[in-house]
Amino acid sequence: MTQKRVFITGAAQRIGAALVHCLARDGYDVVLHYGTSQAQAQAIQTTLQTQGRMCTLIQGDLTKPEAIQAVIQAAIPLGPFDLMIHNASLFVPDTLATVTWQGLTDHLAVNALAPLMLIQGLADQTDHMVTLLDAHVHWHHQDFLSYTLGKHLLERLTVDLAPVLSPKTRINGIALGPTMKGVRESEAHFHTIIQKSHQKQASSVDAVYAALMDLHARSSASGEIINMDREAPRTMTPQAMAP
Ligand SMILES: NC(=O)c1ccc[n+]([C@@H]2O[C@H](COP(=O)([O-])OP(=O)(O)OC[C@H]3O[C@@H](n4cnc5c(N)ncnc54)[C@H](OP(=O)(O)O)[C@@H]3O)[C@@H](O)[C@H]2O)c1
Repeated sequence: MTQKRVFITGAAQRIGAALVHCLARDGYDVVLHYGTSQAQAQAIQTTLQTQGRMCTLIQGDLTKPEAIQAVIQAAIPLGPFDLMIHNASLFVPDTLATVTWQGLTDHLAVNALAPLMLIQGLADQTDHMVTLLDAHVHWHHQDFLSYTLGKHLLERLTVDLAPVLSPKTRINGIALGPTMKGVRESEAHFHTIIQKSHQKQASSVDAVYAALMDLHARSSASGEIINMDREAPRTMTPQAMAP
């Protein structure tokens, strides 16, 4: 049996880091990309190596095309990968009144364009790619406008590229509900999202991991999105979701 290997972006902290620990526990060697959180990435590397797992770190700013290509070139010799998780995300509040060109392009880059280039560069040696989406972008993110646009695009890519990548590579998405308050998100905003969610409480990373493993185990699933908050169906309008 060959050693299982995963490549995950933006995984030095928070949900990505928690998924790394679950994957390592379940026998995966890890290639961990990070942006600025070098100390946290190195701490995870040390922990995983203590557990007998391989953990290789790749740094790269996913707003920069040349850095994205460098990440791809660094990852290629570390493959092939059973699984690649597009976890990195930029989540900074902006609205129609405050959006700037730079903020918009940075969000589109990290949340959609970098995943697209990583898919282009690494699909050939990856069995299954999973994008982390947001169950609520279809109705609640007037106050995270650029983030929302990026996640819409990533969701579109997940569905549209499935037949293109088939049969070599599967691609699926997990649309998370509220799980961990964003670093630049107010308590009030996170609370509002929770109140509008089905379970009226934050989801656990264990639930996200279970969805990930479910998709990974279903060897014919491609172009599918697991929506972790069924209370916010795709057709729901902002008016319909108002309290
Ligand atoms: N948190 C939630 O409740 C929630 C809800 C819905 C969906 N999601 C999705 O689930 C995933 C994980 O969520 P999260 O809250 O843990 O994510 P997060 O903390 O907002 O971001 C994860 C990582 O993305 C990396 N990143 C951001 N900009 C980057 C850049 N320019 N270059 C390279 N890396 C960059 C950062 O790495 P460094 O720290 O190394 O810079 C950051 O630690 C995301 O895709 C998110 O959209 C989360």
